[in-house]
Amino acid sequence: MKAIAWTKYGAPEVLKLQEFEKPSPKNDEVLIKIYASSVTVGDCRLRALKVPMGFWLPTRLVFGLTKPRNPISGMDISGEIESVGKDVKLFEKGDKVYGTAGMKLGANAEYICLSENSALVKKPNNITHEQAAAVLFGGLAAIHFLRDKAGIQIGQKVLVNGASGAVGTASIQLAKYLGAEVTGVCSTSNTKLVESLGAKKVIDYTKNDFTRNHETYDVILDTVGNLSLKQCKKSLTKQGKLILINTGLLVNLLSVFRKNVICGVAGESKENLGFLSERIEAGDIEAVIDRVYPLEKTSEAHRYVDIGHKKGNVVISVEHKET
Ligand SMILES: NC(=O)c1ccc[n+]([C@@H]2O[C@H](COP(=O)([O-])OP(=O)(O)OC[C@H]3O[C@@H](n4cnc5c(N)ncnc54)[C@H](OP(=O)(O)O)[C@@H]3O)[C@@H](O)[C@H]2O)c1
Repeated sequence: MKAIAWTKYGAPEVLKLQEFEKPSPKNDEVLIKIYASSVTVGDCRLRALKVPMGFWLPTRLVFGLTKPRNPISGMDISGEIESVGKDVKLFEKGDKVYGTAGMKLGANAEYICLSENSALVKKPNNITHEQAAAVLFGGLAAIHFLRDKAGIQIGQKVLVNGASGAVGTASIQLAKYLGAEVTGVCSTSNTKLVESLGAKKVIDYTKNDFTRNHETYDVILDTVGNLSLKQCKKSLTKQGKLILINTGLLVNLLSVFRKNVICGVAGESKENLGFLSERIEAGDIEAVIDRVYPLEKTSEAHRYVDIGHKKGNVVISVEHKET
């Protein structure tokens, strides 16, 4: 099978299309024919080892000390089950599924084997494989931080900084679904998009600084990494919470002692994926796709995501030439 070989940390050029042996499923695994995967900021940071301060060593310990342990890049997939291991009960051949390989990686490929118990569920029928692969990264992060950690309540005021990115576009929609009054912070060219996703107010960060507008919010989600508690204190209500998802190890550790700061890493679970599917089926959350690249242009997709101004998500489309 064809896949994107990731043999060393570095610039996008380290990613190369190569031939690999097609995997076969273990007893508890399913073999998935991948139709779409994605390139996220997470993938790019990992590729270049450009991680928030303090995470350099932990990242190397998890993903490979001197070079990547898994030789194939990518986390999120959407595809069709081609075969199942003998103990698999949750899926059968022909099921259309989407999910994430997470830290196991291997998604930028024609095929992948995943345990039936991993974060993998049937794909909603009302979206394409490309939309499914796109919505995973931001959708799962939004559910983890806004629903599970911040516990957003109906009528609360929520501000999303970086509202036009993968996490931002999903967060605006989820917060609205949860009954919040949502404000999105983005640049001029993205204000229409953010409004269309359900933000009641949009603040253009090139013209206004929300920390000086005398408004207060119950939850502030910073996806950009340019906010701190000190900066946001006046913009939070008394019980308000600041979510920092793009911050260094020290702030992550200190957040354990701060009631009003939420950090950490979004986990991926079948349950949260199921909830995401329900929201997609009900039309509450839709995928925002900026660009679609073919598998062989994955390194080009990385170069684009590296620029830091994508709108929503970047998808890798996988074409299977029937033999
Ligand atoms: N902790 C976790 O578990 C977790 C989970 C998921 C993601 N993350 C992290 O979250 C971060 C965001 O991920 P993402 O995928 O959403 O990124 P992304 O899609 O690359 O976000 C880029 C967006 O940020 C906007 N932006 C840039 N500078 C801005 C500013 N000063 N103010 C407001 N918006 C600004 C850009 O809009 P313009 O083009 O308009 O500037 C662009 O649309 C990444 O660092 C990622 O690693 C962490």
